[in-house]
Amino acid sequence: MIGGGEGSQIGPAHRLGSGLDGLFEFTAGALDHRPEAGRSYGQQLGLAADRSYGDWREMLEGESAREDRVDLVTVATPNSTHFEITKAYLEAGFHVLCEKPMTMTVDEGEQIVRIAQENKRICAVNYGYTGYSLVRHMRAMVARGDLGKIRLVNAEFAHGHHADAADADNPRVRWRYDPAQAGVSAQFADCGIHALHMASFVTGQEVTKLSADIVSCIASRELEDDAMVNFRMDGGTVGRLWTSSIAIGRQHGLSIQVFGEKGGLRWSQEQPNQLYWMPLNQRLQIIERGETNLSPEADRATRVTIGHAEGMPLAFANIYKDLAEAIRAEKETRPTDPAADLYPRATDGLRSMAAVVAVAKSGAAGGEWVDARPPMFR
Ligand code: NAI
Repeated sequence: MIGGGEGSQIGPAHRLGSGLDGLFEFTAGALDHRPEAGRSYGQQLGLAADRSYGDWREMLEGESAREDRVDLVTVATPNSTHFEITKAYLEAGFHVLCEKPMTMTVDEGEQIVRIAQENKRICAVNYGYTGYSLVRHMRAMVARGDLGKIRLVNAEFAHGHHADAADADNPRVRWRYDPAQAGVSAQFADCGIHALHMASFVTGQEVTKLSADIVSCIASRELEDDAMVNFRMDGGTVGRLWTSSIAIGRQHGLSIQVFGEKGGLRWSQEQPNQLYWMPLNQRLQIIERGETNLSPEADRATRVTIGHAEGMPLAFANIYKDLAEAIRAEKETRPTDPAADLYPRATDGLRSMAAVVAVAKSGAAGGEWVDARPPMFR
């Protein structure tokens, strides 16, 4: 693991998720931007002294020289470092799970996709919420035609954690809205891309073009803290997406609704164990995670019995479980279990980056429709 040091937001969820099934062991790390703090925290977490590295370059050198080198490197550092670290590890022959956003530019994203392909290495991107059992079930229901043709998808990721104008100058918040540090987008690049990726994951379609209305509700911010994005998908589906960081009262409001010719689905990350299914001209049904007769993809991703709550580290664990299966299948020269072949790819990270740039461009042009595809996929 690179990043994810003491007090980091996302490091603990990766350590919990990766260790849960006993498929991965946490054996090496460069956990902090301060070498000594990283070394000592790594050892506190049980890493051997010679594998608790001071920085990612030292780890790259150390692990490359070992016979028992790590199989997978998780990159959980701040955004602007993802490209350099991910590129270096892929080139050295390691598989990588990179945090989102995968890169800061579309060009970097295309480079990562190419490097992973050329080196035949896995580069996954942690759209971890696609690991929830019922998200995978939604995807399976859409794929097997339960909803018929999908007309409309409506995705949201709205929270209120940056809504306090009095706190807007706090350095921990301010950098996120500063183009020099955050790039061309703040809230859409941070949260909107989760919702957009989920729309693609569930419908099995890619975004082609979009029109965005972006706004800084707190006027001192240069980058947006709220965005409303209309989009179109390559299978003809119409998309709507709202993302916000000033939505007071919202906590982690990631949700998705899918409307087809024969029915509608609704799922929300804060109640992840229930999926609302409305078949055309029938009554509303609540599908519970862990029910019998769900899809193989959902069954594989559920871990405790029906009625017991499952949450976010278990969704991350499912991404790791998929990656373990992919790495094993490669070592054993056999095909990957199709129910496990669901982890988000570098191509997803690249498509998100193209969408981020498109949102900024469209927003600046008063909502003009712009191509949202990376040049590689036009
Ligand atoms: P954070 O600021 O809480 O922690 C970052 C950690 O990385 C710190 O321990 C820091 O010391 C370390 N670090 C920084 N530069 C480093 C370097 N060059 N080498 C080694 N370690 C370094 O950040 P947070 O919130 O944990 O975010 C990390 C990444 O995870 C971001 O890219 C963020 O977008 C992503 N994230 C993803 C989520 C998801 O649901 N997939 C949720 C939250 C964050």
